[in-house]
Amino acid sequence: MILLTGGTGYIGSHVCMALLDAGHDVVAVDNLSNSSRASLERVKSLSGRTVSFWHADIQNEEAIYEILRACGVTAVVHLAGLKAVAESNVAPLTYYENNVLGTMRLVSAMKRANVKSLVFSSSATVYGMPTYLPLDEKHPLRPTNPYGRTKFFVEEMLKDLYKSENDWRIAILRYFNPVGAHESGLIGEDPRGTPNNLLPFVAQVAIGKREKLVIWGNDYNTSDGTGIRDFIHVVDLASGHLCALSHLKEPGLLTANLGTGKGASVLEVVRTFEAVSGRSIPYAIGERRVGDVAVCYADPTLAAARFGWKATRSLTQMCADHWRWQLKNPNGYGGT
Ligand code: UD1
Repeated sequence: MILLTGGTGYIGSHVCMALLDAGHDVVAVDNLSNSSRASLERVKSLSGRTVSFWHADIQNEEAIYEILRACGVTAVVHLAGLKAVAESNVAPLTYYENNVLGTMRLVSAMKRANVKSLVFSSSATVYGMPTYLPLDEKHPLRPTNPYGRTKFFVEEMLKDLYKSENDWRIAILRYFNPVGAHESGLIGEDPRGTPNNLLPFVAQVAIGKREKLVIWGNDYNTSDGTGIRDFIHVVDLASGHLCALSHLKEPGLLTANLGTGKGASVLEVVRTFEAVSGRSIPYAIGERRVGDVAVCYADPTLAAARFGWKATRSLTQMCADHWRWQLKNPNGYGGT
């Protein structure tokens, strides 16, 4: 039995599908602060499997301990956390509380229940400003905002934990830019309010919910002047968790990038989305967003070498699947 924290979120629902498809039993936990139960209902109907759901916060150590014991959990995939960079600048303590303290409580409950296998959702944001590219796991870690620092501190905490008790089996996964949706169009990203990230914003422009995209800067030193990112299909990302989990047979701590190794520019994303949707995406050029880097992409070779994982889906597929989800669910899960 796998405990999946953040199980009703965007990444969580896709990881849940991947786990169920691979034959795992899953118990999902979420505080529903930024997601809805509806995603889990969709996952159940898609997979034809049951998933037990606990409405709980990872900061509630007793609740987590009970779930670990009652459900016979053998490993935890930990995705629960807050993830908006701008919000983390105005509410840093909320971020430290949810992401750092929450993980401390979760891991304490795991230790008490003697469940010592963990896959942790980290982020490429821990690297900060790239000093070289592609970003490999040895790149210095200098996160530039509170959100990134919470991921960094949790990584450090897990490394210290492993040093002190080397029977733990830990995989730290550094995500690049997850986009797209399950090919069924039944689960996908459902941002509350104005989307911060590029793809959900583009999709909402395409469907007519927003008038135009603002491209934050076209004077970067890149081929077309717009920022370049390593967009990765969320289904590929989800399968990375599965591969990491099967790697946790022996004690150890492994940190791996989950990216494609290829960068795409903001304009390339806009053009690709226009092509797959047949809609035009009006845009304007704005100022650079504070904290943005020009170019960021992964060296994904470690994940391939250590646990046999590789992203396979193209940018066209990412946009097509994202569009299918948006078209089928113009209002996401409808606030349910
Ligand atoms: C952002 C976060 C990162 C987080 C990741 C996934 C920042 C600085 N970084 O990454 O920490 O892990 O999301 O949640 O917020 N863009 C536009 N117009 C828009 C939106 C985005 O031009 O309306 C551009 C950005 O300037 C950037 C690219 O699109 O060049 C990707 O932006 P975004 O999707 O927000 O991802 P990141 O900034 O890479």
